[in-house]
Amino acid sequence: MQNLPALLLLCVAVCSAYPADRAAEDEDSMELVQQYLEKYYKLAKETKPFVRRRDHGPVVEKIREMQKFLGLEVTGKLDTDTLEMMRKPRCGVPDVGDFTTFPGMPKWRKTHLTYRIINYTLDLPRDAVDSAIEKALSLWQEVTPLTFSRADEGEADIKISFAVRDHGDFSPFDGPGNVLGHAYPPGPGIFGDAHFDDDEQWTRDTSGTNLFLVAAHELGHSLGLFHSADPSALMYPVYRADTDLSRFRLSQDDVDGIQSLYGSPPGSPDDPVAPTESVTSGPGTPAACDPALSFDAVSTLRGEILFFKDRYFWRKSLRTLEPGFYLISSFWPSLPSGLDAAYEDTSKDTVFLFKGNQFWAVRGTEAQAGYPKGIRTLGFPATVGKIDAALFDKEKKKTYFFVGDKYWRFDEKRQSMEPGFPRQIAEDFPGVDPKVDAAFEAFGFYYFFSGPSQLEFDPNARKVTHTLASGSWLNC
Ligand SMILES: *[C@@H]1O[C@H](CO)[C@@H](O)[C@H](O)[C@H]1NC(C)=O
Ligand SMILES: [Zn+2]
Ligand SMILES: [Zn+2]
Repeated sequence: MQNLPALLLLCVAVCSAYPADRAAEDEDSMELVQQYLEKYYKLAKETKPFVRRRDHGPVVEKIREMQKFLGLEVTGKLDTDTLEMMRKPRCGVPDVGDFTTFPGMPKWRKTHLTYRIINYTLDLPRDAVDSAIEKALSLWQEVTPLTFSRADEGEADIKISFAVRDHGDFSPFDGPGNVLGHAYPPGPGIFGDAHFDDDEQWTRDTSGTNLFLVAAHELGHSLGLFHSADPSALMYPVYRADTDLSRFRLSQDDVDGIQSLYGSPPGSPDDPVAPTESVTSGPGTPAACDPALSFDAVSTLRGEILFFKDRYFWRKSLRTLEPGFYLISSFWPSLPSGLDAAYEDTSKDTVFLFKGNQFWAVRGTEAQAGYPKGIRTLGFPATVGKIDAALFDKEKKKTYFFVGDKYWRFDEKRQSMEPGFPRQIAEDFPGVDPKVDAAFEAFGFYYFFSGPSQLEFDPNARKVTHTLASGSWLNC
């Protein structure tokens, strides 16, 4: 109770946002709010109430700052969303304050870094910890010139340890929940180190606290990143238990942040990848003219053709000879890589993209709200776990979905799957062998991709009119 004046002030804010009968349960909340704002938003420890007004004072200012940073409605009041947010597990590094004002630009002056796992949690086998850390570092390594090697003893740039409560750095952990870990920006000694709260139940999946996710975030700090206010970013301070690990990737915000410190990996242009900037092919990227090239998915987009492969896509405008080559994430940060299928409903100016049993919708570069949705909402039976390819017939306003040796047809006007499907691909598309990797419609023809070859199919004559290489659109 050493902060009584501030607590009284908080009561004004809490009580004003809460019905009176709820006020009693709010003493804990006030304590929480006070500590939260002091720790993460640099609220001064002594906040005298007499010069403050309810809608205009340091606490209210800090609440507003917190609401803004974490993407809540900025009310300056301790509404339910705000209190709920404050109770969520998160990183122990402040969102504003000390860390961001650390003198100099915190970054490593070398690109090869060593790390050492000082000790282990008992929650997981050692090799699970090793691999979570390795995977977390490789996220950052993939998009920068940084490389990491592990040291089993002696000094290391980044020392990783598990500890509970007081652990010798003036930032004690707090038992289960709330703070999950913290890390120090680049520098000597404790700088660069990452600490994990061993009062959490660390897990490989998301049933407890997922070590890989928290480690990837903390190691972002070890490399010099601050917290991001972008909720899709790994560097957003609050832990998200609903993260789908199989689709996890850095957001464009994370990539931009780390590349602003270290640049891009060797083989890509020096500048960070801006939304419309292309990447160049290099080791590990697919090559347009590789005769073995196959595609994950192909779709039109406002008169251009997009060819998706892994994390990348080529964008072929019919006006220009050379296709552009981009990271999917540089256009649509929320999309996964390794898509299964895509099609453009030109009447809705929307491209739908599929992976596994989910699909997303984009308009131009804007991902549409409310996605991903499950493919079962389109009328697929539960036995269909993924779609191989999709194409939209502009004239009929119908979408064909190819799955194994069968296909379904979806009526876009009625928004329903047509009766009588699935049917056999071989029967209705003679000459087209299942399984289809990708498909699209252009100039009245259907194009089917299977491995490195492509068939041009005339839907009216119901026959294959040409056999081409998959990469034939890419000016090879
Ligand atoms: C692990 O190492 C850290 C840092 O040296 C220390 O504070 C902590 O107590 C250790 N944890 C265990 C379980 O030994
Ligand atoms: Zn953090
Ligand atoms: Zn610590």
